[in-house]
Amino acid sequence: MVNIGNIALPDFPLLLAPMEDVSDPPFRAVCKDNGADLMYTEFISSEGLIRDAIKSRRKLDIFDYERPIGIQIFGGDEESLAMAAKIVDVTQPDLLDINFGCPVKKVALKGAGAGVLKDIDLMVRLTDAVVRSTSLPVTVKTRLGWDDSMLNIEEVAERLQDVGIKALAIHGRTRCQMYKGEADWTLIGKVKNNPRIHIPVFGNGDIDSPQKALEYQNRYGVDGIMIGRAAIGYPWIFREIKHFVQTGALLPPPTVEERVNVVRKHLQKSVEWKGPIVGINEMRRHYANYLKGLPNIKEYRSKLVRLTEESAIREVLDEIIEKYSGIEMEAAPIELINYHEKCPIN
Ligand SMILES: Cc1cc2nc3c(=O)[nH]c(=O)nc-3n(C[C@H](O)[C@H](O)[C@H](O)COP(=O)(O)O)c2cc1C
Repeated sequence: MVNIGNIALPDFPLLLAPMEDVSDPPFRAVCKDNGADLMYTEFISSEGLIRDAIKSRRKLDIFDYERPIGIQIFGGDEESLAMAAKIVDVTQPDLLDINFGCPVKKVALKGAGAGVLKDIDLMVRLTDAVVRSTSLPVTVKTRLGWDDSMLNIEEVAERLQDVGIKALAIHGRTRCQMYKGEADWTLIGKVKNNPRIHIPVFGNGDIDSPQKALEYQNRYGVDGIMIGRAAIGYPWIFREIKHFVQTGALLPPPTVEERVNVVRKHLQKSVEWKGPIVGINEMRRHYANYLKGLPNIKEYRSKLVRLTEESAIREVLDEIIEKYSGIEMEAAPIELINYHEKCPIN
């Protein structure tokens, strides 16, 4: 068992990474169904929460079936972060996560997100301010450091543990790397194996297969793994990793029925949570991912992205099941997109 404060997670938990414009409630619902043990909201600006900005407020929506769930906030100012922590408290998630990893300019260059990696004293003060303002377990997600000359994650881990964080998730890249190159888990392993560190350490970066998840667990000894991009369009990654870790065998890829059922559920949750217009509109970016690898799917896909009525979309989904039922499919390789300044699925 892995404990984050009072939250008990199974051995070697799999976490769904917080992802702006991706890990909203509809997406989280299908990841939960497929085995994500702990999930996070998209990051929420502390300033936005305080100003009561609608976009920020809305990201606080969490549902009981999602538990355990963390709300993630970011900010570069002690007072704002502390106040945001109090607002988060009221919504009663299971934990509060601070983002010290976001590399995008509008965040990092204002001294929030990964910007804080240049000033560890500030990072410690910000974290301390949050810990003191909430009764929730506080966790942190961050990167290895600002750049290759400032790989300070080992110091960061010790000092943040000392001010009371209950778990640390580390993305094995620096801020300056953005998403380039390969994630380097060596330092993540060092943090985990530092005898001073007793909180759970979760590794993050480039996990895209059951084999890699198990290999990295064995090599670096992390308490669990956080998965981001590989889950986009492929929430089955969680159950596939679990099965492989438990049995040593690979699950067959999802059937057409399973794929379409995930689309149905994602659509239903999108419409429920966003309303029919936005829900149907924003669902369009997901069809290609979920249906990837089906031969000659293009015709159906283009119908799905043009239709505006939920009932008509559901009819096309039924047609897909009818047409492809029983067809054996190869697992389409998971591609990890190289995200830079802007999320391309926006
Ligand atoms: C579209 C997108 C949005 C992201 N938004 C957030 C965010 O809101 N908060 C955060 O801590 N990290 C965010 N990340 C970073 C991911 O949580 C994760 O650290 C990163 O993608 C590396 O993991 P992966 O290789 O499994 O994708 C985002 C990543 C992507 C691709």
